[in-house]
Amino acid sequence: MMGDKVKVGVIGLGMGKFHIRNYKASPNAELVAICDLNVERLNSMKEQENIPLAFTDYRDMLLSDDIQGVSIAVPNFLHKGIAIDAMKAGKHVLCEKPMAMNVQEAQEMVDVAKATGVKFMMHFNSRFVSDVRFLKKRIEAGDLGEIYYAKAGWLRRRGIPRGTGWFADKAKAGGGPLIDLGVHVLDLSLWLMGNPKVVSVSGSTYSQLGNELTKDSDRIFDVEDLASAFLRLDNGATLLLETSWAQNIVGKKSDRYIELYGYKGGARWGGDDPIPLQMVEDRCGDISELKPVQLSEDYLETPQHHFVSCILEDKEPMATAEHGLEVMKVLDAIYLSAKKGEEIRV
Ligand SMILES: NC(=O)c1ccc[n+]([C@@H]2O[C@H](COP(=O)([O-])OP(=O)(O)OC[C@H]3O[C@@H](n4cnc5c(N)ncnc54)[C@H](O)[C@@H]3O)[C@@H](O)[C@H]2O)c1
Repeated sequence: MMGDKVKVGVIGLGMGKFHIRNYKASPNAELVAICDLNVERLNSMKEQENIPLAFTDYRDMLLSDDIQGVSIAVPNFLHKGIAIDAMKAGKHVLCEKPMAMNVQEAQEMVDVAKATGVKFMMHFNSRFVSDVRFLKKRIEAGDLGEIYYAKAGWLRRRGIPRGTGWFADKAKAGGGPLIDLGVHVLDLSLWLMGNPKVVSVSGSTYSQLGNELTKDSDRIFDVEDLASAFLRLDNGATLLLETSWAQNIVGKKSDRYIELYGYKGGARWGGDDPIPLQMVEDRCGDISELKPVQLSEDYLETPQHHFVSCILEDKEPMATAEHGLEVMKVLDAIYLSAKKGEEIRV
């Protein structure tokens, strides 16, 4: 199949717009179809981007033999059903985060991915940021030494997302900022640290501020507005995680960061877009800064280009279904720990 283009479709046209943009920019992809329940959204996207096929029912899209892969960018409660139908129809899947509503759903998806043999990639797009990929390479080269302590957060002072109205509805989203934003920085920290297993978590969640901020609206708000957790990893390392949609943060409106501490060096990727990377190294007793000045063009690869290239070259995607499942296990454990008020073994 080398040299061919992979024909793809995108289901859900909110975040799906970014998938469309990246497929159109990839020399290995041909975007042939889109799908959304909202006919107005669907038709205007079809026209604007000149896309051959448009569907309101994803099952009709899956009937097309022409389509080899699909992006799934619908509300969280629909990921499992659509992903499983797509895989059973022989389509490769690029699935938005979080993988699913809970670990049981994610496990079913992993099982179907294994049974059908299609490629399943998680859209953990933060892994594709060029500075993050540079950092990953430096870590793999041993520049930080063993990482024994890490902190990760994604905080918003006032930022309860709306989307098409499902984000703060537990039955459709599965949870609040932890499953929405925390999922990214949790995945990123574990991936940068070489995918150690989380052995136990102690978490807490809060919702009073979110309740107050939404009380005069017709919006459902039955999820947390803030979550924090202390995670023990199987290599002895510790990870602190914090995330919020509403929090009275001093000095800034939002924060997003990963901090990694190794015996040889440390790194912080955090701040406002474009998020800067800072690294320090202990070189013969002197602490020096390492700053990327010109990065390899390899780091400009988008998740969508990576996905279709994995299909063409029969490679395993760098963000797998198993990674999605591991993250889901930790998220479930944090929610359970918060509910019970005690540490949970994962
Ligand atoms: N990776 C990221 O950075 C990122 C950012 C935002 C959202 N997301 C994820 O993307 C997914 C969608 O979020 P969003 O912000 O686009 O939400 P959204 O509400 O803005 O858009 C969802 C779209 O899906 C459509 N839809 C709903 N049910 C459908 C169905 N059965 N078939 C076809 N289309 C359907 C809706 O009409 C809507 O257009 C979520 O899982 C979210 O977590 C990821």
